[in-house]
Amino acid sequence: MAQLWGGRFTKETDKLVYAFNASILFDRKLYRQDIRGSKVHADMLSKQGIITEEDNALIQKGLDSILADIENGNISITEEYEDIHSFVEANLIKRIGDAGKKLHTGRSRNDQVALDMRMYAREEVAETRAQVYKLLETLMAIMEKNIDTYMPGFTHLQKAQPVTLAHHVGAYFEMFKRDLLRLDDIYDRMNYCPLGAGALAGTTYPLDREYTAKELGFFGPTLNSMDSVSDRDYLIEFLSAASIIMMHLSRFCEEMIIWNSNEYRYIEIDDAYSTGSSIMPQKKNPDIAELIRGKTGRVYGALTSLLTTMKGIPLAYDKDMQEDKEPVFDAVDTVKGCLSLFNGMISTVKFNREIMAISAMNGFTNATDAADYLVLKGVPFRDAHGITGKLVLYCIDKDKSIDELSLDELRSICPEFDEDIYDCISLKTCVEKRITQGAPGRDAMNNTIRINKEFLSKNRKDNV
Ligand code: ARG
Repeated sequence: MAQLWGGRFTKETDKLVYAFNASILFDRKLYRQDIRGSKVHADMLSKQGIITEEDNALIQKGLDSILADIENGNISITEEYEDIHSFVEANLIKRIGDAGKKLHTGRSRNDQVALDMRMYAREEVAETRAQVYKLLETLMAIMEKNIDTYMPGFTHLQKAQPVTLAHHVGAYFEMFKRDLLRLDDIYDRMNYCPLGAGALAGTTYPLDREYTAKELGFFGPTLNSMDSVSDRDYLIEFLSAASIIMMHLSRFCEEMIIWNSNEYRYIEIDDAYSTGSSIMPQKKNPDIAELIRGKTGRVYGALTSLLTTMKGIPLAYDKDMQEDKEPVFDAVDTVKGCLSLFNGMISTVKFNREIMAISAMNGFTNATDAADYLVLKGVPFRDAHGITGKLVLYCIDKDKSIDELSLDELRSICPEFDEDIYDCISLKTCVEKRITQGAPGRDAMNNTIRINKEFLSKNRKDNV
């Protein structure tokens, strides 16, 4: 047991207490951020004349060697230390002696952990964003290829009106576009540096917080030291954004599972993204889509967990906050993993265009268009709606679709029908006529695609 705070104590910590209190087994994930923050802190201490340049040089070398040894596997971060901060500091002192004892001047683990978590979150927001961007590119490619791929649009999972695959996928494009913007937004709000807040009330040393903030790539220092050590809003925002991304992925997965089913057969998920059954040789299961749908609950769980942890904590730092790490780490790995697998799955899926079109033709998806036709002939919409309803009943009875009825049959229900009805309710016309902005008609869709391609080029980032 190696602790930083033995002085005031006359007894050893109980072993169970030590283990209960320790966070090393999960916060060791933050070693890079911890070392980077410490290096900049030491540079600043030396620049401000709080420690000597010689001591700083030793600290820099010592920290570099610790980082290298961790990354080469020469040292492992074990339970011997309470947390990652103690691990780094104790190792530094082991390597460079007394100079190492000066690193923690003007700093507390409270602002240190706040810094580490922000740096971690900031990197992960950027990585998640890059994954969302990649998915948007994949969806755009599918949209561009499928402007004329007709399929039924659904409400209540009942066939409603015909749309196109481009239009359906385009709905998800909009969702993930909002996700991307949400991540950008929370990045901008979280990118302020808590280092220098001390335990809660700043320090009496002349720290240069502007310097450390800038060196660490932040927009600037945070403005209230109590808030700095007790704020976990940025993690809650990240978990909210992650939960919304998962909700979108989960809906899409649910549709892929339905579309991939023996009854629908709109798509075939690639062998590489399907799994078999141990007993039923014929099976090809959409396990990946199901798992993504399932893991959504886990990310929501992380959000609920942290919200609940934070809700009763008095200012400023309390140890409850250590409970932020495991759910956040898990949720971040989960959302990134799911985005990457989903992207692989959707970019290799086979769309059965013909089956989709046939499905759009059955199920009276053109009934609204038949009613609209009558309206153009002067029938009031409410009457046209009733007439078309009767038409559908007649079709069900005869086991035919509306366009399979003869003109005589149509006229027996309403004399306003003419030869031009057939063109008017063809699948192609039903889609093409939908020309309002945001609709599936070819011109409208091309316009949307153009706008969204501009969005993609404007929002490309180097890390993609
Ligand atoms: N392991 C702690 C955490 O994750 C680090 C901060 C500890 N501060 C303290 N005063 N005990 O929150």
